[in-house]
Amino acid sequence: MSNVPVITVDGPSGTGKGIICSYLADWLQWHFLDSGALYRVLALAAEKHHINSDEEAKLVNLAENLNVEFEVAGAGSLVNVLLDGEVATDDIRTETCGNAASVIAPIAKVRKALLSRQRAFHEPPGLIADGRDMGTVVFPEATLKIYLTASAEERAKRRYKQLKEKGINANLRDLSAAIAERDERDSTRAASPLKAAEDAIVIDTSSLDIDAVLANISELVRNTVPGLQK
Ligand code: C5P
Repeated sequence: MSNVPVITVDGPSGTGKGIICSYLADWLQWHFLDSGALYRVLALAAEKHHINSDEEAKLVNLAENLNVEFEVAGAGSLVNVLLDGEVATDDIRTETCGNAASVIAPIAKVRKALLSRQRAFHEPPGLIADGRDMGTVVFPEATLKIYLTASAEERAKRRYKQLKEKGINANLRDLSAAIAERDERDSTRAASPLKAAEDAIVIDTSSLDIDAVLANISELVRNTVPGLQK
C-alpha cells in the first residue's frame, strides 16, 4: 500500500483537527480514519461491560474483539459509529467518554490491539488519518504529516462554544481543567505519546480562523501529494 497516499493530522483536541480532516476527506474523496472515535468506542464498550481502567487483560481482549463499524456517506464523511450494531455516535462524543478514552489509551497492549484495525483504513485512493500518533506510530511513512496546536485557553473556548451550540451546558473553567488534564495524560504517557513527528509540519491555529487553516493546509496538500488534479 506504500503507493497509496496518507495525510496524517495529529494534535490535541480543540485544534480544529476533526473539521479539517472531514474537509480534506471530502475534498479529495479519500477515506477517513477518526482514530479518537475508536478509543472512545472502546471506552464506551468497557463501561457497558463493567470493565475498569486497571483491568488490562480484559481491556486488551475487548479491544481485540471490538465490534465497531464506521458508517460513511461517500468516501469522507463519517455518519455513524456503531458499537455491537447499535448507534453510538452521540454517546462517544461526551467529555466523559473522551476522558475515559484517554485513561485507557496509555495501555500499550490496548494500542497494539487497535493498530491493524487502524491500518486497514489505508486503501486507495488515499487516507486522511486524524489522531495523536498517526504520524509517529500508525503511519510513519505518511505522504504529509500535519501537527496542529493551539493554546489551551483557545481550545477550551472553542470546545465551550461547540457544546453551547449543541445545547449542552458547560462551564469554561471546568472545561479548561479537563482539557489540561487530558493533554497531560496524552502527552506524558510512555506508549505513543501525543507529539509531533520529526517530519511533521506544525501549525499553531490559536489566532487563525478555520478558513485560514484550511487554505494553508490545502496548499500544502497540493504541493506534496503527487498527481493530484485538484
Ligand atoms: O481525538 P479524541 O478527542 O476523539 O480522542 C479521545 C482520546 O483518545 C484522546 O484524548 C487520547 O487519549 C485517545 N487517542 C489516542 N490516540 C489516538 C487518538 C485518540 O490515544 N490516535
